[in-house]
Amino acid sequence: MPVTDELRTTESVRTRSSVAGQTAVVTGGSSGIGRAIAETFVADGADVVICSRTQADVDAVAEELNAADRPGSVLPVECDVTDRDSVDALAEATVEEFGGVDILVNNAGGTGEGGPLHEVAPDDWDSVIEVNLTGTYNVTHAFADSLRENGGAVVNTASMAGRYGVAEMGPYSAAKAGVSALTRTLAVEWSVDDVRVNAVEPGFIATPAVREWFGLDEIPARSDVDREIGSPHEVADAVRFLASDAASFITGQTISPTGPPNTFEPPTG
Ligand code: NAI
Repeated sequence: MPVTDELRTTESVRTRSSVAGQTAVVTGGSSGIGRAIAETFVADGADVVICSRTQADVDAVAEELNAADRPGSVLPVECDVTDRDSVDALAEATVEEFGGVDILVNNAGGTGEGGPLHEVAPDDWDSVIEVNLTGTYNVTHAFADSLRENGGAVVNTASMAGRYGVAEMGPYSAAKAGVSALTRTLAVEWSVDDVRVNAVEPGFIATPAVREWFGLDEIPARSDVDREIGSPHEVADAVRFLASDAASFITGQTISPTGPPNTFEPPTG
């Protein structure tokens, strides 16, 4: 779309920042950041397919979000992103219900057990790479035709762990660095198809996994913890921006919702 003064009016800025009327797929939508992305999207008027490995988990989120009379709707689908058949079934269910997809958010992931690299067992290495990196490939591959047919947006969930060295998170850091690299590569490949591919690279976000890690019972006030910690909705807002037309000239980029720059410091020496 050409840049005109019209784009600077409040109404057009609102419209371009919205994902209303779009169909989005959010993997790992039963919890934490994925759940917040689904909530943000349906509140804005998108239809959202959420998946996780257990149907009951996505059903519970869909029931809650659909009951709240938001403009968009939620379709819960059981899917393990590491299983190609399961991912193909997710794509089929999405096309059957909504005709295709406009926005793909590859959010499913996890750190695994962690530990110094020399103590990481081969199976643990494989499982962390599988869910974070291969899972992103699997789902993107399954939705490729649908996305490239009419154009769209992909937003991948990387991590600051993939940018900086974080002790005892070797497999996770490597997987997330791979997600960032894949994001840049795909942005180039799919630019001719009008598909933008970007990523978010969050810092510490108050999700169940991170609360457990820090031993926190509830989502803390920022001042209650010894480092900056964000909310899942702060990541969801960045994802919505990247998925919307407001980011129409942005592809192959990564936004880092991390709080102040000193939250993550690169290793010295
Ligand atoms: P979470 O544990 O609350 O949610 C993870 C979601 O992924 C859940 O819905 C889970 O069921 C799903 N999932 C896990 N394995 C799956 C599989 N094989 N197939 C389908 N779904 C699967 O975690 P959180 O914190 O919300 O993380 C979401 C994403 O954000 C992950 O990719 C994580 O690595 C990333 N991230 C999180 C940060 C944080 O501080 N919470 C920081 C940086 C990145």
